[in-house]
Amino acid sequence: MTDQSTALQRHYDDDGGQLERVRQALLAAGLKPGEASVADLAPLDHFHTRGSKATVELAELAEIPEGVSVIDVGSGLGGPARYLAEQYGCRVTGVDFSPVFCDLATMLSEYCGMEGHTTFQQGDALELPCANDSFDLAWTFQVQMNIEDKALFYREIFRVLRPGGRLAFQDIFQGDGKSLYFPVPWASDQSMSFLISPEQCRELLKETGFVEVAWRNQRPIIKSEALPAPAPGAPLPVLGVHVVIGEEFITVKRPNSGRAFREGRIEFFQGIFDKPV
Ligand SMILES: C[S@@+](CC[C@H](N)C(=O)[O-])C[C@H]1O[C@@H](n2cnc3c(N)ncnc32)[C@H](O)[C@@H]1O
Repeated sequence: MTDQSTALQRHYDDDGGQLERVRQALLAAGLKPGEASVADLAPLDHFHTRGSKATVELAELAEIPEGVSVIDVGSGLGGPARYLAEQYGCRVTGVDFSPVFCDLATMLSEYCGMEGHTTFQQGDALELPCANDSFDLAWTFQVQMNIEDKALFYREIFRVLRPGGRLAFQDIFQGDGKSLYFPVPWASDQSMSFLISPEQCRELLKETGFVEVAWRNQRPIIKSEALPAPAPGAPLPVLGVHVVIGEEFITVKRPNSGRAFREGRIEFFQGIFDKPV
């Protein structure tokens, strides 16, 4: 493991107490193992801007057929994977760098009876532990901004998709080129954040061999739904990504990212691209 990947892992899952904290939070929310629904877990397990609403919208944009096989690259806590499995009957393989997130995602699938439809495997997006041409859909939600070698990231996704397969993503991009305010939800400092412009990404996808199907700027919708930072000392919700990442997620990291967005330093886009037959 490189110094860079170790630092990133520390950013996401360093403190060792996540599984127990999540169990306790679920108990406090009245959710017992095997008795929760996928929707019950949604406030906690969609680790990206606008949470489960954005997951639902990207899935609609991707026009996912019933029962397809999916790889979720950088699957996090597994919320999107469970949504695709429940809503579209998909069989979803999640791959994430963080062993703790894979354990959490596996545990959360057991909480809502989705363990037969989702699997989570520790692995690197730059060396996916999967055969060529093995998935109908590649899904990746706010992961690319942690990856420096984006050409390899997209080549790996292209490799594991079958001909005619589809890539669906939402990602964070460079805005006006000014620096960010750290920490943000995806990085403690500049060494973990690799933003390119939306146009650079589109060009890279084209060079990789993908054909563009849809490209959607999320600015109008994110702007209209901006979440205020909580008042100092206000109680935090029982379920939320902060249970895993820590309170700083709500009090510092998300507000820093919101400020960068308001000032035009970052942008969010959703994209759908096909691998030609
Ligand atoms: C902001 S979270 C998004 C999680 C999930 N996609 C979601 O939307 O709920 C970013 C995720 O990317 C993962 N990640 C970052 N770099 C990775 C890499 N090189 N390979 C695999 N996963 C990676 C992190 O461990 C983390 O779970």
